[in-house]
Parts: sequence; C-alpha cells; structure tokens
Amino acid sequence: MAATIPRVTSGIPGLDPLIQGGFVRNSVNLVTGGTGTGKTILAAQFLWEGLKKGEPGVYITMEEHPDDLKMDVAQFGMDFSKYEKQGICSIDYFDPAQVNNLAAAILNSIKTIGAKRLVIDSTSVIGLTIENEMMIRRKLLSLIDAVKRQSKCTVLLTTEITEDSKGLSRWGVEEFVVDSVIVLNYLGIGEETNRSLSVRKMRRTKHGTDVYQLAISNKGLIVKRM
Ligand SMILES: Nc1ncnc2c1ncn2[C@@H]1O[C@H](COP(=O)(O)OP(=O)(O)O)[C@@H](O)[C@H]1O
Ligand SMILES: [Mg+2]
Repeated sequence: MAATIPRVTSGIPGLDPLIQGGFVRNSVNLVTGGTGTGKTILAAQFLWEGLKKGEPGVYITMEEHPDDLKMDVAQFGMDFSKYEKQGICSIDYFDPAQVNNLAAAILNSIKTIGAKRLVIDSTSVIGLTIENEMMIRRKLLSLIDAVKRQSKCTVLLTTEITEDSKGLSRWGVEEFVVDSVIVLNYLGIGEETNRSLSVRKMRRTKHGTDVYQLAISNKGLIVKRM
C-alpha cells in the first residue's frame, strides 16, 4: 500500500531514501532542534526543491527579515529572488505580535501564488508576546489545523528548542498534531562539529530509525549514511 501514497521530495540529499521517497503530500511536518542546528537551511532547501520543478512555494519567516534569510541561503546557491520575479515564490515576513489573524494572512499568501509548498519558520516566536500559555497553545493548534485543512500545501514548520529541553517543540503541542517530526542536533567540540538528524515520527511511513550524520556542503545539508 505504501507505494500508493503520494510523496513530495524533501530537497535534502540522503533524506528521501529514509522516508520512503519524501514527505507525504499535503502533510504537516515539524523540524525541531536547538539554535544553529540547520532548521532554516533545511526549510529553504525544501522550498527550493519545489521551485526548481516549477512548484510555487511560500516561505513565512517570523524570525529573520527576508533579506537576511536570502543572504543566509545564497551561499548555498539558492537565489529565491529569481523565482520571486517569476511569481512562483514569495518570502513573507510576519510579526505574530502585529498580524491579527496569522492563519488568514498565511492562507492569503498561498492563494496569491498558488503555492504547493509552505514553510513557517518558526513557531517559536508565536507566543513570545502572549502571556497566557494556554492561549499560545490554542493559537498554535488552530494555526496548524488551518494550514493542514485549507492550504492544500505540503507544509514544513520549524520550532526551536533549548539545549536542555525535554520536549520536542517550543510550546509542547506542535509535535502531537503534526504528521512528522524530524530532530536536528548539533554538538560542537573544538574544531570538530557533529551534526545529526533523526526521524522521530512520520505517519504512514516506514522510516529510518537511526541517528544519521548530517553535513553542510556548498549546496546545504546532506544526510550521510553511517
Ligand atoms: N557555509 C557554511 N558552511 C558550514 N556551516 C554553515 C555555513 N553557513 C552556516 N553554517 C552553519 O549553519 C548554522 C545556521 O543554520 P540555520 O539553519 O540558520 O540554523 P537554525 O535555523 O537551526 O538556527 C550556522 O550556525 C552554522 O553552524
Ligand atoms: Mg532559523
């Protein structure tokens, strides 16, 4: 049966063979990890993969300004401006404290270019200006539900966790409602850097269960078989 599930290639060399060919089409996928683990680079590669094939994509950035984001990923050969000019890519900065109805704003961006891929980077900043944790969780759940039901996109969310975090996401709810969770890790000791990726869950997918080594090449992240 697995072969009949439509898949969307991730854009990360080495990852698709671990997840039966890619993310489940129209699923919501969470990439979690500490700061500097490569979440933004991975998210950009996911969008870039679609753009190269002519699939429109939206990148919602809530941490970095679009110009900074573009500069970060330009070193890996990803020039989003090219596709923005073609009208199949949009990189939108939303400040969750300023945007009243985040879900509606995101769905509007999707509709404008007919996006098939959506990145939201990151869910961590949603809630930084809301005092009540229950309200934060409710807001996040309704946002994830809205993109899941209404976006018709394959979605990649990022969430940043602290080094000593026991949970898998910033607000402790994202991991339960998404279809998959990919965990990135980084261990820097002296000159050595040790990056890794593991697939914590992926619904409808028989996925690799190891901790895989991750490298950063001049094209971005690469999953290495150990
Ligand atoms: N050209 C490069 N070569 C090797 N590593 C890089 C390069 N550019 C960035 N990095 C690494 O990637 C990290 C940033 O990745 P990013 O995806 O922005 O992290 P996150 O979004 O998880 O905070 C940097 O802290 C650095 O360790
Ligand atoms: Mg980031």
